[in-house]
Parts: sequence; C-alpha cells; structure tokens
Amino acid sequence: MDQQRLKEKVAEAAFECVAAEHSDKLLLGIGTGTTAECFIRLLPQLKSRIEATVASSERSASLLSELGLPVVDLNSVGPLDVYIDGADEANSQLHLIKGGGAALTREKIVAAASKQFICIADVSKRVAVLGAFPLPVEVIPMARSHVARELHALGGQPVWREGVITDNQNLILDVHGMAIEDALEMEARINQITGVVCNGLFAARPADILLLGAPSGIERVLPPSQ
Ligand code: 5RP
Repeated sequence: MDQQRLKEKVAEAAFECVAAEHSDKLLLGIGTGTTAECFIRLLPQLKSRIEATVASSERSASLLSELGLPVVDLNSVGPLDVYIDGADEANSQLHLIKGGGAALTREKIVAAASKQFICIADVSKRVAVLGAFPLPVEVIPMARSHVARELHALGGQPVWREGVITDNQNLILDVHGMAIEDALEMEARINQITGVVCNGLFAARPADILLLGAPSGIERVLPPSQ
C-alpha cells in the first residue's frame, strides 16, 4: 500500500472516531498537511453535525470553505471539541515534531485550545527518538541570525527555509542534527530564545491519541500512563 493510501486510511479512522465519540454541534480544530487534507475531504459527510471549524492555516481554511464547511476565527468560539492533525514525527509518549508545512504556530494554538488532540499519520512517522526530521522553528524576521546562533549553541544546525513566509509573516529555521531525548525540556528551552515565536515540538501539549496507518491496519496508540 502506498503512503498516500495509508494517509487516506488513517484519515478515515479518525473520521469514524470523531463521528462515533463526539455529539452534535461539533467545534472542530483542523490541521494542515496532506494527511489533514485527507481528513478535511471526508468532512462534508458530517456537515449537519458540525457547528464550526477552526483551521490551523490559510491553506486548510480555503479547502474547508471550498467544501462548504463553516470556518470561524478561534476568538469567536470557546474550547474546541477535538483537533485533528498530522505530524512529521511521533514517539511513544505521543510527543511530536510538526511544522513541515510551516503552520506550527497556529497548529500549536489550535491544539492548545482543544479538549482532545487526535494525531493522524502513516506509520513511517513513528520514531524512537525525535529529531531525525529537522525541527522547524518559527522566528521573527529580524531575529533570524541571532536565533540561528542560539540554536547552534544548543547543538543543532539551523538552516533557513528560504522563500517560505508563514501565515504570521515570519520565517522558518529547520534545525538539523538534534537527537531530542527530552522533548519537554527542549521545547521550553527553544521557546526561551528571544525572537522565537514557536517551535515544532509538541510535548507540553502532546497528542491524546495517535492513529498510525500501516499496511496491516490502523494502530491506535495512547500515552504510556493510560
Ligand atoms: C504542517 C504539519 C503537518 O502536520 C506535518 O508536516 C505532516 O504533514 P503531512 O501530513 O503532509 O505528512 O505539521 O505544518
């Protein structure tokens, strides 16, 4: 089974989960990327039960609108019932690296504002240690060089993702060469660098459920304490 089919399968599993476990008047947080897009394309089937969606990127908001789904500003609603999004890497603690699509800051905000976060990915995203995928860091443009030096001091090799401007009008540095054993600590340390808007580690607010699409079926992973 190819990777695209695995993404479609895992999106279907998340759709079934949302439809079965949540009641009507759903407030949905919607992520960004190819896997999240598979999920978005299923949502018209649930339209009568969706009160509103909040998107983590302009790209996802456009697709939701094209499909006739209501998209609102996060400030106009209370806590969201559930957030569904993909990941670039996930470990067994359900800590994630996200931001391959440069939407990490809004993704983190929508995840923080949601009662439940279901992460959907094909099985290739599962890792023992986070960091083989370069860690995206969103930075204020004038702080790019300063932040890059600080990230270097933390042991990484930051590379400017040239030509990419985030939805918040900022830049992305991708940090290579980090084996991140303590994601919670690293997330906090990087956030303390002046000029950093957000980094792509999702450890302070990890996923609540990780659905992994594999050729043998869908694997449902919960955090170790559950
Ligand atoms: C975008 C993200 C995506 O969730 C992540 O890059 C995974 O993307 P895909 O589903 O296309 O593999 O964090 O900023």
